[in-house]
Amino acid sequence: MLILAFESSCDETSVSVVENGTKILCNLIQSQVLMHNKTGGIVPEVAAREHLKIISQLTDQALNVAGVQIESIDYIAATIGPGLPGALMVGFSYARSMAFATKKPFIPVDHIEGHIYANWLEGNMPILPAVALVVSGGHTELIYMDSASNFKRIGGTRDDAAGEAFDKVSRMLGAGYPGGPAIAALANEAKKFDIELPRAWLPGTHDFSFSGLKTAVLNLKNKFPNLPVEEIAWSFQESVVDVLISKTITLLNELNVQSVLLAGGVASNSRLREVAKTKIKIPVFIPSPKLCTDNAAMIAAAAFRHKDDFIDPCSLIDIYSTMNRGDLLIDKN
Ligand code: KG4
Ligand code: ZN
Repeated sequence: MLILAFESSCDETSVSVVENGTKILCNLIQSQVLMHNKTGGIVPEVAAREHLKIISQLTDQALNVAGVQIESIDYIAATIGPGLPGALMVGFSYARSMAFATKKPFIPVDHIEGHIYANWLEGNMPILPAVALVVSGGHTELIYMDSASNFKRIGGTRDDAAGEAFDKVSRMLGAGYPGGPAIAALANEAKKFDIELPRAWLPGTHDFSFSGLKTAVLNLKNKFPNLPVEEIAWSFQESVVDVLISKTITLLNELNVQSVLLAGGVASNSRLREVAKTKIKIPVFIPSPKLCTDNAAMIAAAAFRHKDDFIDPCSLIDIYSTMNRGDLLIDKN
């Protein structure tokens, strides 16, 4: 069963062909990072235009690399949200039109769910029920998942997402965009490890907060302008990783689950991966780094689990209302 999937929620245009929800035949990702580096962050209008420039050509290439004709594709899927509206609309409308023209069933996919399902690619078969820690540029969520379609959001960030904090601190330290890999690279170069930055524990909740940490970095930088940025980056990364993993463990102590799933761009962080594997005492699944950041293979993996919920691409129904995912993660408004 072949799914052709599209992802365009932010600054990556991606087209993928995946067999039976697990085997990646191709996963092409065209990043706009060089474009957004010039502005130190994403300009939504520019992102949408860049998707539009590349999507048709990328689709032809993807089918070529996968070695399949469009006729052999069984379903077409695309991210419906959450994400930048203009950027989403490009991939979603392109995919839906393609499904209409080729008379294929169409599957709308929640982006966060896509990140979680990246854990089913590359031959992995995580055991449910599970707790998923989704950490990306727009989200920091603790989610209980007991079946392919039943998600319950237990906690989330009250201000910045973890990836957003990496991006903003990177900008403060003059380390560039995207901030996650830049901060991780700086932290690796640290020679001294005695800066202690705060952790927001928000006791009695499963929520997160990273805005105080961000301000603490700014204050530290202003007060001690000669502090090596590598040491600040190391301390910042330690603080984020410590809070993410400690709060996940607190939740695990309250629930009876079989595994932990890490997902989202920040899950490609080596320190987070290492601490998760050493501190969490039940199986931890983490996609390979290139499948943690936005890609269309993860959208195909999620679509496979929802293939019975496909829609007729030319129908005028409210697409959101057809998606039933328990405590649905996307913003229906
Ligand atoms: O999941 P993703 O590709 O896009 C969203 O859905 O937001 O995540 C992007 C985020 C960015 O904030 C980026 O800085 C962060 O993931 N990121 C990292 C690393 N690689 C990407 N954060 C920490 N360490 C990394 N190695
Ligand atoms: Zn994402």
